[in-house]
Order: sequence, then structure tokens, then C-alpha cells
Amino acid sequence: MREKVLVLDFGSQTCQLIARRVRELGVYCEIVPHDITVDKVAQNRPAAMILSGGPASVRDEKAPTMDAELLRMGIPTLGICYGLQLLTGLMGGTVEKHTGGEYGPATLEVDKPDELLAGLEDRLDVWMSHGDLVKKMPAGFETLAHTDDCRVAVMGNAEKKVYGVQFHPEVVHTPKGVEILRNFLFRIAGCGGGWTMAGFITEEVARIKEQVGDGQVICGLSGGVDSSVTAALLNRAIGEKMHAVFVDNGLLRAGEVEEIEGFFTEDFPLNMQVVDARREFLDALAGVTDPERKRKIIGKVFIDVFSRTAKGLGKIDFLAQGTLYPDVIESISASGGPSVTIKSHHNVGGLPDELGFELIEPLRELFKDEVRRLGAELNLPAKLINRQPFPGPGLAVRIIGEVTEQRLEILRAADAIVQQEMENWEGYDDIWQSFAVLLPVKSVGVMGDERTYANVAAVRVVTSLDAMTADWARLPHELLARLSARIINEAHGVNRVVYDISSKPPSTIEWE
Ligand code: XMP
Repeated sequence: MREKVLVLDFGSQTCQLIARRVRELGVYCEIVPHDITVDKVAQNRPAAMILSGGPASVRDEKAPTMDAELLRMGIPTLGICYGLQLLTGLMGGTVEKHTGGEYGPATLEVDKPDELLAGLEDRLDVWMSHGDLVKKMPAGFETLAHTDDCRVAVMGNAEKKVYGVQFHPEVVHTPKGVEILRNFLFRIAGCGGGWTMAGFITEEVARIKEQVGDGQVICGLSGGVDSSVTAALLNRAIGEKMHAVFVDNGLLRAGEVEEIEGFFTEDFPLNMQVVDARREFLDALAGVTDPERKRKIIGKVFIDVFSRTAKGLGKIDFLAQGTLYPDVIESISASGGPSVTIKSHHNVGGLPDELGFELIEPLRELFKDEVRRLGAELNLPAKLINRQPFPGPGLAVRIIGEVTEQRLEILRAADAIVQQEMENWEGYDDIWQSFAVLLPVKSVGVMGDERTYANVAAVRVVTSLDAMTADWARLPHELLARLSARIINEAHGVNRVVYDISSKPPSTIEWE
């Protein structure tokens, strides 16, 4: 069984960061809900547990807690911030309110290095963010470090292998934080490490082979990173038993269909078919201007086309999807409630049950950057792996108003210029997405001596870490000038270009 660390999620913003740090140290790790049962934990046989921070106070009646039995199972445990306070209370100590709290940088004074702080200096910069303090440690614990404001900043019980830190070792503002996590994992919990992408591929290939047996798998290929890596991995595991289906919905960027088809037939051959459904999508979108209706229609037509194709392939048992880890974590929602639908996102989900597919989601344990590393390990080229995200409904949500063949052509031409110019710019690697949008507005211009009355295109270029928030990119004026001049000259039908200077929130990245 794979060595695994469990991170119990108490609602901290940095829960995913903890998981990534652990994985970066070569130890596989999963985030689980704080109320995970003793049985579930026992099944997982974790090498260690990490209790995350959280926004609540352990002194609140409704504060999230955990089964105290988990702390008696002999599993090496590290509590971070809220996690430290929680284990203090559950093991017989007490926690009190900190008058004023301690937020931001602090200096940690090491009293006793023990194993957790072994090899580190006596004074360390750490990042604090807490309103409660450990007043009395549980029996058997000793203070390993303090700060001016916090008497018990690190405590430990070497015999039980239970430790707690009041600061956040997972954030970059705690420069030696990774060393502390390393000590916990390797010196205290005795982890072996060595979790690598190559190892992941070997394990996953074996698992997929076993799951699929003599069955057949269909895989929706969009040309994006996630579906490409999924298809490449399945190809390695089961070859011809995977049927990749690339639906050409007529809403893709210039040259995209040819590029993907060419790549997966020649450079990286796999069992793929391209389904030309351009007419079907365009017909269904005729006369539609409402963004949500467009999205719903595209989702529905996609399902129709995909289902039809699947049926045409004979008996298919499995559907492979590129679902990623952040989509599957059952985290505590900070707001406490289901979030509002801002836009209905579209992927292969929602296929009719009658198709009876069983799901294969080989990326469901990985973060995006890990998927990129996996892609590289599978020999997919950098250009494909580092592709910008592209929305499922494609250019339809970048043509404001009705989607017609003619407007698609104008947008494709403008968008291709944005792609070219951006890719040639030295700052391109820091850009999250860059594209053109066609507005339902015409403006007056003059070209030569002629009056023109033509379309307005917007250029949208954003930086972002995870698409949850984004900022408009401060592009050099020369680049903006080139984009504008080239679009107006070369994308026939556009006589004015504007640059979108809205951040997300309050705007979104896409216009619809
Ligand atoms: P918004 O516009 O909501 O977009 O700020 C956030 C990110 O999601 C992408 N996006 C989609 N991706 N299906 C997808 O797979 C969709 O329907 C979809 N809509 C938006 C968008 O490009 C951005 O990266």
C-alpha cells in the first residue's frame, strides 16, 4: 500500500498548501474532512496526520472538531495553529483567548530543538495568525519554542509523536517551514518518501489495467492539458482499448483542430477520432444571445454528440475524465453554504446514466502542476502541457451576442494575432490567459479616405494563480499598440480595439 499522510481539513485557506508541501517532499498526501471516522483512518493506514488551521476558535461550541480517538491510535500527528489548539483541548490541556491576537511575522525562540526543530537555528522567522493561545499543555508535552507573544509556540510529546506548532510552516513567510515539515515527516513519522511522477505512472498504469480488464474506455479529448494527459496515460496503460473522441464544435481557436488532430495522429499516435459537429452546434446556437442559454445549449449538444459517438463504438464500459484533485476535495466551505452558480461550467459530466459508464479519473489525486509534470514524464511536449486554459463552450462565450460563422471568423483572426504577439513577448510565461473578445458594438472609423462602420474587439490578458481571482496584465504600451494595429489591419471587420482593465472579482475572466 502506498505511503500516505492525511491532512485533516478544519477550513484553513492553506490546507491545499500543506498538502502540496508534503507532496513536494516526496510523500503522498490527501486532504480529508475533519470529521473523518476512525474506521476510515484505519483503512488508510496513514504514516502521519496533519491537523490544519482554521478560521474558528476551539472555544466556540460549533467549532469543527475530530474524533479524539484518532489521537490515541499511535499515528504521528502534527497540529498547525487551530490544529494545535484542538489537540491541546482533546488531550486534556486548555486554550484561552489571546488578548489582541498575533498576526503576521514573529520570531520563534527555540527552547529545545527535539526532533521537530532539529538542525535549525535558535531563532527563526515564522508567520503567525491566531486569536487563541495554549494556556496549559496536555500531560506529557513540553514547550519546544516560544515567541514574545506566545509562550507555547511549539510543543511536543516525543513518546506519543504528537506535536503542535502555533505558526504556519506551510507558508512562504515561514522560510524554514519546509524543514520543519521535513523533520516531522522523516525524523518523527519515519516516512520513506520517494513519491515521484515516474512511480505514480507505474502504479496508475497497473491500476487502470486491472480496473479495465477486457473492457473498453471512451475518453473525451479537448486538447487541454487535463484531457490530453488523461488520454496519454490511458494510452500507455491500455492502448487501443481507449477510444479518444475529439468533438469539433466549431467554437475552437484558429488552427486548433488541425494542431490537435495532427499531434495525436502523428507525433503521439493514439486511438482517436475527430467528430465534426460544427453544423450541429451552430444550428443550435442560432439566434441565441443569452450567455447562460448558450452554455446550456453547448453542454447539451456536446452530450448528444458524445453519446451518439459512444453508441457507435459498440460496447463501452468506462468513461475517462481529467478531473483534478482540487475538484474532488470535500473541504469545508468557508462560507458554510453551497456556492452560487456564477457560470455553468461545462465538461463531460452530465452524460445520461443509461449509457452506464463507470468512471476512470486517473488525475483525481493530482494538482495542476503535478499534472503538468506527469504530462512531461509521458513525453507530451511543453507547448501542449503549458497551454492556457480554454473554456468548454469555446469562442461562443467570447462572442458577445449571437454566434454566427461570420463572427467566428472575425474573432478567430483577431484572437490568432493576440496569441502570436503574446507568445512572442518575453513576459508570456507569467500570463494566465490572453485572448480576444468580439463585442456586439459597431463604431465609426476611417481607413484610407473611407468611412468604416465595423466591429469593436476587446483584448483580455490576465494574470492569476488559480482562476479564482485574476488581475489584468500591465502590458507594455508598445505591445498594446502592436496588438491594436495588427488586429485592425489584419482581422477584417474590426476597426477599433479596447483593452480590458477589469480584475476578478468583481469581473470574471471570460466575458460571458
Ligand atoms: P471565469 O470567467 O469564471 O473563468 O472567471 C474562470 C476560468 O475558467 C475558465 N472557464 C471554463 N472552463 N468550462 C471550462 O472548462 C467552462 O465552461 C468554462 N468557463 C470558463 C475560464 O477560461 C477561466 O480560466
